[in-house]
Amino acid sequence: MTDSLTVRDNRTGAEYDIPITDGTIRAADLGQIKTADDQPGLATYDPGFVNTASCRSSVTYIDGEKGILEYRGYPIEQLAENSTFLEVAYLLIYGELPSKEQYDKWVHEITYHTYVHENVKSFMQGFRYDAHPMGMLMASTGALSTFYPEASNIADPDNRHIQIVRMIAKMPTLGAWAFRHAQGKPYIYPDNELNYTENFLSMLFKMSEHRYEADPRLARALDVLFILHADHEQNCSTNAVRSVGSSQVDPYSAVGAGIGALFGPLHGGANEAVLRMLRRIGSKDNIPDFIAGVKDGNERLMGFGHRVYKNYDPRAKIIKKACDDVFEVTGVNPLLEIAQELEKIALEDEYFVKRKLYPNVDFYSGLIYEAFQFPPEMFTVLFAIGRTPGWLAQWQELIGDKDQKIARPKQIYTGDRGLTFTPREERWA
Ligand SMILES: CC(C)(COP(=O)(O)OP(=O)(O)OC[C@H]1O[C@@H](n2cnc3c(N)ncnc32)[C@H](O)[C@@H]1OP(=O)(O)O)[C@@H](O)C(=O)NCCC(=O)NCCS
Repeated sequence: MTDSLTVRDNRTGAEYDIPITDGTIRAADLGQIKTADDQPGLATYDPGFVNTASCRSSVTYIDGEKGILEYRGYPIEQLAENSTFLEVAYLLIYGELPSKEQYDKWVHEITYHTYVHENVKSFMQGFRYDAHPMGMLMASTGALSTFYPEASNIADPDNRHIQIVRMIAKMPTLGAWAFRHAQGKPYIYPDNELNYTENFLSMLFKMSEHRYEADPRLARALDVLFILHADHEQNCSTNAVRSVGSSQVDPYSAVGAGIGALFGPLHGGANEAVLRMLRRIGSKDNIPDFIAGVKDGNERLMGFGHRVYKNYDPRAKIIKKACDDVFEVTGVNPLLEIAQELEKIALEDEYFVKRKLYPNVDFYSGLIYEAFQFPPEMFTVLFAIGRTPGWLAQWQELIGDKDQKIARPKQIYTGDRGLTFTPREERWA
């Protein structure tokens, strides 16, 4: 068996041998297929990159058929059970689990970079009283590039390291301040005595008490949620970070673009839609009618189905367990009962089984976030904080990848050609 593809161009009768590597062909190899020397070579048309690999990556592995998700080769279940978010962040960025010294240094560095310049605070205070926290996070992350102009020196690994530390450290500060802003509450400064997630909860919820002490079960559940969201290979926002990063801009600008992509309802907003759906169903008695509506094509069971996972999303299983831990502290969200019953019915129903529709990460995450008393606008902010190490790991990989070029897709031009400009006096006469 030869690892190549023989292509016959029926326009010319010519045959070409195109090498196959890692189950792909190089799109550029199609460029040799032409009807004449002065004609453009063959290209592929792939809106949304549904069947195009844009990079080689060793960060995250997904097998959607089997329901497998691994960061740097480690199954998500083991990481969620045994690791911390900062340990996972180190793993994603540096490719291996840290030694004790590496971990202590990493945690120390991140803890001591959580403060932002006071002008960032004034900048954020300038937003309108009802500004969406995700818009504030996107703008303030991008604005960090103006506070660290040296970040544009992306070729220097030490410089990249410090910007990565800063970004992971400051994201909770910016996210919490965006949350406090909409509530008209004073921004709370980071507390370096607390761990990453406890500190975030403190900046979100602290009032006049000397120190905000989060329930450890809540802090751990949020840490696990961050781990689950830390990377997901070439999704829309990661692709945005890579695409913008390919211009060799600084990482704050590239991650700002990723936050913009995550803001969109097709990417980060599905858990909010799950909550709306559960509220609309209202009680267990209404589930059969709702399911019938889904089967008739009038409804969509939000939080079910995934472009990649055609099996139980491994993150959904872990989140389901985290629900129990959170509700033990906060009391049960009444919508949970509806969600569980809905899941039970859907997993047995032929419509869903045949189409391989299983709960995805968003089916339960909204319920947990609501138990924390986060308004829905904060859900994507939480997602962004969790995804930051993944974006940065992918960005760092991009910088070191000799194959990468500035992202610049082709197009199929469908407009006019060679028109003659008519001066305004004639057009408007
Ligand atoms: C995630 C999603 C966009 C993936 O879409 P996709 O890979 O393009 O899958 P398709 O839309 O081709 O769906 C395949 C079939 O399953 C059905 N289907 C997919 N998701 C469904 C859902 N949530 N409820 C009911 N039917 C669904 C489709 O109608 C289609 O049925 P058909 O073959 O009879 O036409 C889709 O499953 C969805 O909209 N889910 C709900 C939103 C959600 O939870 N998004 C978060 C993802 S993390």
